[in-house]
Amino acid sequence: MTIAGRLYEGLEIIPVDAHNAEIAVLLLQRFFQDEGFSGNHSIIAANLDRLRRDDNHWVALALSSGHFVGIVTVTSMLYIEWGHLGEIGDLYVLPEARGNRVARRLVQAAIEWCRARGCSAVEVVTTPLVEAAHGLSDFYSRLGFAATGRTISLLRLD
Ligand SMILES: CC(C)(COP(=O)(O)OP(=O)(O)OC[C@H]1O[C@@H](n2cnc3c(N)ncnc32)[C@H](O)[C@@H]1OP(=O)(O)O)[C@@H](O)C(=O)NCCC(=O)NCCS
Repeated sequence: MTIAGRLYEGLEIIPVDAHNAEIAVLLLQRFFQDEGFSGNHSIIAANLDRLRRDDNHWVALALSSGHFVGIVTVTSMLYIEWGHLGEIGDLYVLPEARGNRVARRLVQAAIEWCRARGCSAVEVVTTPLVEAAHGLSDFYSRLGFAATGRTISLLRLD
C-alpha cells in the first residue's frame, strides 16, 4: 500500500443530489473535454438534472478526504430479452486520483444499484477511440465484464 493509496482507504460513494450536482457537472464537463467532446456546461447540467429526477437513473460521486475525485452514471432499461438491464453511461476519475481503485468502487456501487433494481445484467459501451486511448476492455474485464461482440448502430434524430 502506497501513501497515496492510504488516502483513498476512506473513499465514500455519494449519490448526487441538489447540493453536489454542480460538482457532478464539472466532473462530467472535464470528462467530455478530456475525451475531445463538447463539454457544454448548460447541456450537461440540464441532462444531469433530468437523470437525477428519474428513478431509472443513478449518479454517484467518489469522495476522498473531502475531495470529489470521480463520477459514475448508470441507467436501468427494460427489454424483453433481459427484463431490467443496467448500463454504465459515464465513468470518470480525475487523472491525479487514478490507480487507487476509485473507478472499481464506483463501478461496484453502480452494479449494486442495478442489482437492487432487479437488473439481470449490466452493460457498458466502449468506443474504438476510448479503447485506443485507455485500453478500457482490459479495465472492464478486470471488473468482471466480458465483451459480447454485439455492434451498436445509431440513427441520429437531432
Ligand atoms: C478508466 C478509469 C475510469 C480508471 O480509473 P481508476 O480509478 O484509475 O481505475 P482503478 O484504479 O479503479 O482500476 C481498477 C482496475 O483496473 C485496472 N486499470 C485501471 N485503468 C486501466 C486501464 N486504462 N487499462 C487497463 N486496466 C486498467 C487497475 O490496474 C485496477 O486493477 P486491479 O484492481 O485488478 O488491480 C480512468 O482512467 C478514467 O477516468 N479514464 C478516462 C475516462 C474513461 O475512459 N472513462 C470510461 C469511459 S466508459
